[in-house]
Amino acid sequence: MCGIVAYIGNKEAYPILIKGLRRLEYRGYDSAGISLVNAGLNVYKCKGKVSDLEAFASGKDVSGVVGIGHTRWATHGEPNDVNAHPHQSGNEHLAIIHNGIIENYDSLKTELKKRGHVFKSDTDTEVLVHLIEDVQANEDLPLAEAVRVALTQVVGAYAIAVLDRNDPNVIIGAKKGSPMVVGIGKGEFFLASDATPIVEYTKEVVYLEDEQIVELRLGQEVRIKNIENETLTPYIQELELHLEALEKGGYDHFMLKEIFEQPKSIADSMRGRFHVESGDVSLGGIIDYEQKLVSAKRIIIVACGTSWHAGLVGEYLIEDLARIPVEVEYASEFRYRNPIINEEDVVIAISQSGETADTLAALELAKSKGATTIGICNVVGSSISRVTDAGSYTHAGPEIGVASTKAFTAQVTVLILMALRLAHKRGSIPESRFHQMLASLEKLPKQVEETLKTASLVEHISKQYKDVRNFLYLGRGYNFPVALEGALKLKEISYIHAEGYPAAEMKHGPIALIDEEMPVVVIATSKGNYEKVISNIQEVKARKGKIIAIVTEGDVTAAELADHVIEIPDTEEALVPILASVPLQLLSYYIAVMRGCNVDQPRNLAKSVTVE
Ligand code: AGP
Ligand code: GLU
Repeated sequence: MCGIVAYIGNKEAYPILIKGLRRLEYRGYDSAGISLVNAGLNVYKCKGKVSDLEAFASGKDVSGVVGIGHTRWATHGEPNDVNAHPHQSGNEHLAIIHNGIIENYDSLKTELKKRGHVFKSDTDTEVLVHLIEDVQANEDLPLAEAVRVALTQVVGAYAIAVLDRNDPNVIIGAKKGSPMVVGIGKGEFFLASDATPIVEYTKEVVYLEDEQIVELRLGQEVRIKNIENETLTPYIQELELHLEALEKGGYDHFMLKEIFEQPKSIADSMRGRFHVESGDVSLGGIIDYEQKLVSAKRIIIVACGTSWHAGLVGEYLIEDLARIPVEVEYASEFRYRNPIINEEDVVIAISQSGETADTLAALELAKSKGATTIGICNVVGSSISRVTDAGSYTHAGPEIGVASTKAFTAQVTVLILMALRLAHKRGSIPESRFHQMLASLEKLPKQVEETLKTASLVEHISKQYKDVRNFLYLGRGYNFPVALEGALKLKEISYIHAEGYPAAEMKHGPIALIDEEMPVVVIATSKGNYEKVISNIQEVKARKGKIIAIVTEGDVTAAELADHVIEIPDTEEALVPILASVPLQLLSYYIAVMRGCNVDQPRNLAKSVTVE
């Protein structure tokens, strides 16, 4: 994962790099480091967060208008000072930062060792910088060319930035599989994993494509080549990102801000996409490929984590409403299990970041088999949004908290719109139901706002359960993915073991876990299999488990059985996942805060998983 940022221009690089690293810290926070060119090449790096790096660099020489910075999510080598990036060449002339995995690092390392290179770290990254040094030594090439030649020997994924003290007016960047964006300012350039460190300086950006190498030289234009050494014309785009969206705006944590933003983010996801009176639904981004979807024999949804849960809701929606068979696959399994895919399939990739390596690879596989590919991404201009044939953005705005909240509800919103559009086109639901659903959809943002009023009640409930070791989440039908998502949220940020199950599956195993210590969150809303879920609640009660029930406003039966009741507004069964997720997000948030956990940056995780 890792976040990389680089600056070359007329300002002091250090403050820009530190600020950029703070923005990128969601991508990894095992260690942080920078390198600056001035009279020589200074490298400061240490285990921990960007704030630790600042403390470490304090009082040291951080001057220079050219520099690179890195925040790490370790893949190769434990998180410590030595493995922190930047890594230097043996002659200490070069410094590199890297996001990705060099898969053939072991064989390259063995080879380089034979040629006298001595390694200091356990990372795969260090091999790259020695390789570039080796090419430079043997072939006397300019830095950009040495980087290109070195990369022809590399297998794996990378986004890199390289500095050379012997050529102090240049930064070389390159990417394959990991994201990289170039910012073009007045007399200055930026390079970063995403646009967040760039947005306050310039709106002009170039998204690098795989196997491209960029040369950012002071006083010159951006130069891009591909790995075959062909010169390419940079495609400059205008950024749509706004700075305010990247700030906490008075909330204690980004996660809480993002939970409370949902009335707006859901409204933004819907904006201009349907009209209740005329009965129009359309998703502009997929219109050219809509017929493929309408006549698809099968839709395959690929995603990871929370986005996979949104995909499960999508399966229920599309099968229920549009009557097209849907399969939902973990992208990481799909890509390696030799799946059957053909030209009549439509593969939908769901991803907040649009950079998840497994999802990207699953898409590439689907494309190579001739399937039509559609993206549902949040980050505009992300890799997935660019490789798919067509797509719909979720428009939830930047999501910084590592635990996904508003992106999930926005993904489900887009899937609802998609399912309704397909259902209408295929005539698979009666007009009256279609109109009824649109009317209910329009009310959703307001109902989410209502649901958020449960926050203080949820906080109160959280107090009683913050110290338990296990949690069970149960739901049926549309609420089964909600149970999975609720459990994932709790695990991720509070480190409490939690499992989500289809309520009726409980009796096939997990029921053995239930005793008076075990809190069980049951989504028992009034539509769907309400009576069946009530029976499941009875089964838990009979074994003295504690029930936290998410129910529809005015519910009596579940409320009588449960230890705690959280009411959500009434809506169509197919729309309940959006409302029911909100109290579960809040529950995980408050429990994590009460346990003293780092909510926005949970241990071992990163926001954007750009490695396998
Ligand atoms: C969500 O809370 C998780 N941090 C994680 O499961 C995430 O949903 C997953 O890594 C997929 O990311 P994406 O949506 O950016 O592809
Ligand atoms: N493989 C590199 C390391 O472990 C970079 C990791 C990453 O990009 O996540 O340091």
